[in-house]
Amino acid sequence: NIPSFIIKPAGEKSKNINTVIKIIETMEKRALGRDTAVIAIGGGTVGDMAGFVAAIYKRGIDVIQIPTTTVAQADSSVGGKTGVDSQISKNAFGAFKNPTAVFIDVSTLKTLGKKQFNAGLIESVKHALIADEAYFKFLNKNLKNILARKTKPLEYIAVKNCKIKADVVETDPYEKNKRRILNYGHTIGHAVESASNYKILHGQAVAIGIIAANIIEQKLGLGGEKRIQALKDIFARLQIDLNIPRSITKKKIIDIVSRDKKAVQKWPRFVLLEKTGKVLCKDGQYAHNVERKIVENAIDILLKKKY
Ligand code: GLY
Repeated sequence: NIPSFIIKPAGEKSKNINTVIKIIETMEKRALGRDTAVIAIGGGTVGDMAGFVAAIYKRGIDVIQIPTTTVAQADSSVGGKTGVDSQISKNAFGAFKNPTAVFIDVSTLKTLGKKQFNAGLIESVKHALIADEAYFKFLNKNLKNILARKTKPLEYIAVKNCKIKADVVETDPYEKNKRRILNYGHTIGHAVESASNYKILHGQAVAIGIIAANIIEQKLGLGGEKRIQALKDIFARLQIDLNIPRSITKKKIIDIVSRDKKAVQKWPRFVLLEKTGKVLCKDGQYAHNVERKIVENAIDILLKKKY
């Protein structure tokens, strides 16, 4: 019988440290002790904030995640990453805090608008690409029913996503090496998202980043036309806009990429596919150094949509 209450931020802008302070002070006023659990019902913003509050309140209390969006159900509710934004950057404050439990009810996805629902499915495509070719085939084959929000395929993908992510996170909870594969498509994707001032949805940005990764892979002899075409097809069926706003230049993308938090000497390592369903692992490493020239060239192709 754990006392609990629900955190309801008004939107992305409330994912800041002031909201965290407000929540914590409310909890203090109610004299809640370490026998408290924070229950996060909502999307990634709610889950991230609730997790962070739980990580720091009285040096740590339980958090239970009840994700209600495609992104949160596929990705952010599992694996323990939490964070809130500073005035300078996203998730500047953060901690690893694994949830005590994650409860997923796919019927909550019926509350989402089409754009948000579809963009969130990109994290499922990412999981399939990095870990399970049969899952990629399942997504393609069942996309019509998934988009119609039928319970069965949605439950199937919920379980699949959790299994794939949990497997990786259990091996490398603090992202020293293998966990980096979960950031497939995120290096350039996140740069595009950030350059757009977060006007582009996360999933849409990751789809763009996945295409960029595939262009790089093609240049390195790790992939071909066929995979890029398969991705273009599934993104088109998901109605994901792969156009990058004109204001986002190559220079802007490169500048953000070089400030990636995992960069070494101002240049990030890239997660690459060996084939659909399998990431490249070389000398035990899952993230690889790719020459600047190759990346710059890939960004040119991406911006001109010449893929
Ligand atoms: N979303 C990537 C991770 O949890 O590591």
